[in-house]
This record gives sequence, C-alpha cells and structure tokens, in this order.
Amino acid sequence: MVCLGNICRSPMAEGILRHKAEKEDLDIEVDSAGMGPWHVGENPDYRANFTARKYGVDISTLIARQFHESDFDRFDKIYVMDRNNFADVVSQARTDEDIKKVDLILNLTKPGSNKPVTDPYYGGDEGFDKVFALLDKACDVLVNSLK
Ligand code: 4NP
Repeated sequence: MVCLGNICRSPMAEGILRHKAEKEDLDIEVDSAGMGPWHVGENPDYRANFTARKYGVDISTLIARQFHESDFDRFDKIYVMDRNNFADVVSQARTDEDIKKVDLILNLTKPGSNKPVTDPYYGGDEGFDKVFALLDKACDVLVNSLK
C-alpha cells in the first residue's frame, strides 16, 4: 500500500487489509510505504489512527518508511492511492513485470475507473471516514479474491 506521506492513507490501507486477512486466516504479507521522505519514522497521523481505531483497526504502532525499488521484489502487488503515486512508483520500476504489479487501489472496487483515494491530510476529520470506507470496500474485494 503506497501513498505520499505514509501517515494517512496507506497505513490505514495496511491496517485494514491485515485485519481482514487475519480474520480470514490468509497467509499474506502486508506493508505500506510513502513516496516522500518527510514523515519517515513517524507513527500514523492522529486522525488516521483515531478513525481506524473507531472501526476496530489498530494502526498506532505502524512506522512510516519510504518506498524502495526492492519493494518490487518483496511484493506481488503494489496498490497506490492516486495517479501521482502511480507515476512515482512506476518511475522506479526496472522491468515490465515490475510495472504490472502496480495498480490504483480503487480499481479493485471499480475496475478501470482509475479513481484516486484523495489525500485527507489537509482536510477535516470527515475526510478520514471517507477514506476508511473506500479502502474497506477495496480490501474486501482483494481479500475475497485471495480466499
Ligand atoms: P498520505 O497524506 O499521503 O495519505 O500519508 C500525506 C501526509 C503528509 C503529507 C502529504 C500527504 N505531507 O506533505 O507532509
């Protein structure tokens, strides 16, 4: 799960997916990363943390890190939140196989729509509820496809 800062959208996506995978007893590795360096080493934004906790998902101990080229080797799929993330991740791809791993996460719910999960960082708390709901649906689709 990849976003810009790795403190709002992608840690929520990581927590949601891990929570659902554990419930379904799926043996998958889940992680998240950001494209920017600003928040490396920090825990998620308090609003992301609060919102996730409200829905029973604990992301309080996650620690932000930056995306690295080696993530193409570690993961089968790389879900990004918006088109900027997509372009940034693809710019680090080494092969066509790497590029094929990358997709916008909302294409899980609406295939081919290329809709973004809009950055809630500069808005109010309600933006985080909206992000949670979008990511929750997308992760349901993903988990169902892996069962
Ligand atoms: P995220 O939100 O990409 O969902 O983690 C952001 C958080 C911080 C910044 C940008 C986006 N920032 O520029 O500090």
